[in-house]
Amino acid sequence: MFSKDGATKDVKTPRICDVVWHDGEFIKWDDARVHVMSHVLHYGSSVFEGIRCYATKRGPAVFRLREHMQRFLNSAKIYRMDHPWTLDQLCDAAIELSRRSGMDQCYIRPILFRSLDEEHPAFGVNPFPNPLACYIGAWDWGKYLGDEAIEQGVDVCVSTWNRLTANSMPAMAKSGANYMNSQLIKMEALLNGFAEGIALDDRGYVSEGSGENIFLVSGDVVLTPPLSSSILPGITRDSVIQICQELGITIKERTIQRAALYVADELFFSGTAAEITPIRSVDRITVGEGGRGPITEKIQKVFFEITKGDREAPGKWLTYIKDAAQKSSDNNGFAGAIDPAAELKVSV
Ligand SMILES: Cc1ncc(COP(=O)(O)O)c(C=O)c1O
Repeated sequence: MFSKDGATKDVKTPRICDVVWHDGEFIKWDDARVHVMSHVLHYGSSVFEGIRCYATKRGPAVFRLREHMQRFLNSAKIYRMDHPWTLDQLCDAAIELSRRSGMDQCYIRPILFRSLDEEHPAFGVNPFPNPLACYIGAWDWGKYLGDEAIEQGVDVCVSTWNRLTANSMPAMAKSGANYMNSQLIKMEALLNGFAEGIALDDRGYVSEGSGENIFLVSGDVVLTPPLSSSILPGITRDSVIQICQELGITIKERTIQRAALYVADELFFSGTAAEITPIRSVDRITVGEGGRGPITEKIQKVFFEITKGDREAPGKWLTYIKDAAQKSSDNNGFAGAIDPAAELKVSV
């Protein structure tokens, strides 16, 4: 009843893969179901990932697959989810699912959650008696913040909701429950006519969007909040940092005050779903010239050239689905996991 125009629109989903990977097997989409009394539905006990597979001249290629799956394993470890899956098995499953989907490009969603043992049901908060279930689905997903957003930018607000504190719900784990906080931020933004909300951390410093990391450009320097500002260690964020380093653009991790957003020359979001999306206003205050700024455009251009396979990445970031068929047991071009505890190694 409170919906305004725009608040009910979802991201375009032209196609959904009709098979789902479930604990080592491929099952039909229609058979991928859970019991309503599953632990996850009541207590939010899931961890998940979001990975894009891009269309390239050499066929579909998954972007930074192993880094995503490593973060998935890290999230599971934080929540003491003792599952049997290895990094290689999860990567192979995602590759095989992409191949079976027949799609040129898709979004891949692995999820691990506490389910229900119907023969020995357990209903308490204690998660340990509940079995784990792991699934991977895929669908073709459009531009997360709208078709125009990539070029024209989005209008956003600073949320009245704070991001999670590190010692309550760890933002560095991509858990389903964290997204209740994201939903508060997103709903408030949409109902007030904004495309997205930026949350501050519990100290009042800029944290991140409901589903994106944030970058600020001041002069010729690019800044982004550190992990200690309760952010998800974004894979796209890491990619932007590496692209900046390759382009010789100074990039620093800094705590950022809310007011700095208003006087920034440029702002942009980074994320698997949002890719690199410029921000043209915050709280109805125009950012810079009110569109995509030159440094954002430069970084965005390189990012899209890399994801299309038209430009060499700073590391082996693309796993080509066709090639991976022959060498599924190699490490798919893994350049090393992103260490979520590490601070950015840049000259200050
Ligand atoms: C809260 C939040 N922050 C940041 C990101 C960006 O992370 P990534 O670039 O790994 O998709 C996401 C998206 O997954 C997110 O949900």
